[in-house]
Amino acid sequence: MSEQGEVAAGSGSAGERIVVIGGSSGIGLRVAELAAGGGADIVIAGRDPQRLDAAVDGLRAHGAAVEGVRLDAHDPDQRESFFATLGPFDHLVSTIGVPMGGGFLSAPAAEIRRTIESKFFANLAIARLAAPLIRDGGSLTFTSGTGGRAQDAAGSYVGNLAIHALVEGLAVELAPRARVNAVAPTWTPTPLWKDVSEAELAATKARFASAIPLGRTATIDELADAYLFLIHNTFITGQQIAVDGGIMLGG
Ligand SMILES: NC(=O)c1ccc[n+]([C@@H]2O[C@H](COP(=O)([O-])OP(=O)(O)OC[C@H]3O[C@@H](n4cnc5c(N)ncnc54)[C@H](OP(=O)(O)O)[C@@H]3O)[C@@H](O)[C@H]2O)c1
Repeated sequence: MSEQGEVAAGSGSAGERIVVIGGSSGIGLRVAELAAGGGADIVIAGRDPQRLDAAVDGLRAHGAAVEGVRLDAHDPDQRESFFATLGPFDHLVSTIGVPMGGGFLSAPAAEIRRTIESKFFANLAIARLAAPLIRDGGSLTFTSGTGGRAQDAAGSYVGNLAIHALVEGLAVELAPRARVNAVAPTWTPTPLWKDVSEAELAATKARFASAIPLGRTATIDELADAYLFLIHNTFITGQQIAVDGGIMLGG
């Protein structure tokens, strides 16, 4: 169970099958918890078996039907095997996408390429494999990002734009059978930053809070809520929701 606490009841997912790739931690785990609280059957996927087992145990402790599957979503063979045995589902959330810092001139080209591979090509592959398995009325929700500037986060910036383009195209290609959207968080304290020192984490949090018009960083719940909203609102497709306290609006 995440630090966000209890599984919330009534998130409107009763009887649905919801797949969360990247569901063993952070935003994805909270999406899984909220969907489980609404009565969904959950499949979560991630690389680290201990993280996966802990997440599955936490979700099961609250009565959810949950399956944990080991998957490195960057590995083409593992992606193929995962979807070959997955079966039909209603909604899929992917939180796959590595972040990076540095500009177009300063960051190593290989790192820019790796970030775009992760954010765009891994999610494109997920979409292509997932598309035939989505039940009518279902959805795909991807994870983009906001708050960074092109000159500070070159590969992330391009990757996020590419995810936006991906959801616009897929939304039309999969309509009217299924919907496709993305959530764009800005910097948020999650286990993504577990290797960063406490002092650095606090400094980054303060820096973002001062740049965000709402004066603070997000909670994981505020991010997860946006995924649940996109999963359940049946007339939204091809959209990206920034959950960022207005960071791109400031001067
Ligand atoms: N938190 C932020 O500040 C922030 C801001 C903007 C965008 N985002 C984006 O939001 C997404 C989720 O971030 P988070 O903060 O929730 O991070 P997190 O707490 O580290 O969770 C990431 C999840 O994805 C899994 N994962 C990572 N790489 C994977 C792979 N190759 N194959 C399968 N599973 C994988 C992780 O498990 P394993 O490591 O065990 O595989 C974990 O379950 C990322 O795309 C991130 O770039 C985050």
